[in-house]
Amino acid sequence: MVAPMNFNEEYTRRIDYIEKILRRYLPAQEGYQKVIMEAMEYSLMAGGKRIRPMLMLETYRLFGGEPGMIAPFMAAIEMIHTYSLVHDDLPAMDNDEYRRGRKTTHIIYGEDMGILAGDALLNYAFETACRSFDLDGEYAVRAGKAMKILAGKAGIYGMIGGQVVDVKESGHEVSGDVLDFIYRLKTSALIEASMMIGAVMAGAEDEDIRTVEQIARKIGLAFQIQDDILDVTSTTEVLGKPVHSDEKNKKTTYVTLKGIEESKKDVERMTAEAIRELNRYPAQDEFLEQLLKSLVYREK
Ligand code: IPE
Ligand code: IPE
Ligand code: MG
Ligand code: MG
Ligand code: MG
Repeated sequence: MVAPMNFNEEYTRRIDYIEKILRRYLPAQEGYQKVIMEAMEYSLMAGGKRIRPMLMLETYRLFGGEPGMIAPFMAAIEMIHTYSLVHDDLPAMDNDEYRRGRKTTHIIYGEDMGILAGDALLNYAFETACRSFDLDGEYAVRAGKAMKILAGKAGIYGMIGGQVVDVKESGHEVSGDVLDFIYRLKTSALIEASMMIGAVMAGAEDEDIRTVEQIARKIGLAFQIQDDILDVTSTTEVLGKPVHSDEKNKKTTYVTLKGIEESKKDVERMTAEAIRELNRYPAQDEFLEQLLKSLVYREK
């Protein structure tokens, strides 16, 4: 008989593994520009749920990926995500002073270095992902495909595009369609990239990669709606970032459009759909299913 999986133990094990990878790829803190390496480490190693590299790794496993080959992309996606948070918190954007339980990077290092730390993480993400081109033949080919996905999903047709509309539409109510567009880009895009790159590096077929993109889109939407709910219902201590940030910035969110109860139902429904679609694959990943369920009821 197979012993039941202890989710919390497995989760902690994966966080440790991911943080080891992040440390391994961080640049040495040296040279006249040393302050920027320090600011990169400050923001990247502050904690955080590490959901994107975790989803990448699980999707890679789901499609039979061999151990080890995915590590540079796991580090790269977390660097891009972290840069998006560093810039999201800047005074010109959401103007928040806490992140991952600490003062934001621009508060500690100043706005100039905050901007540059974000730039540095973004660029270093690609420097890190490029290391995959040193892998053996077939993996280097897959890495090229993965790089294209990473670049596209992080850019103006992905995360940056979503942040642009989010900022542009602050201060007044927007329609549900526009809100879905913002969420799909600002949040789903990097989650889509995470899961698609996991599939690509494991050698999945194009059709499967497209299916994974659709599943990840739902996971991302549910994830952002839950983030909006927590902005209203949680506390800064638990969340590690300020609550009521959306209200302060007069953002339309799922919560302002539909109310808390309806939003919670949407999170549950979208997650259940994603799990059902994942379960169509012959290879099952119990941890992945439990991870997605845990995100519905997460408190931070
Ligand atoms: C916060 O992302 C920004 C959103 C897209 C909702 P996370 O909730 O994944 O933040 P960390 O990485 O755990 O700090
Ligand atoms: C940001 O959405 C999504 C990003 C691409 C950074 P939010 O502005 O709601 O994220 P938090 O709540 O500050 O983490
Ligand atoms: Mg924001
Ligand atoms: Mg914000
Ligand atoms: Mg938020």
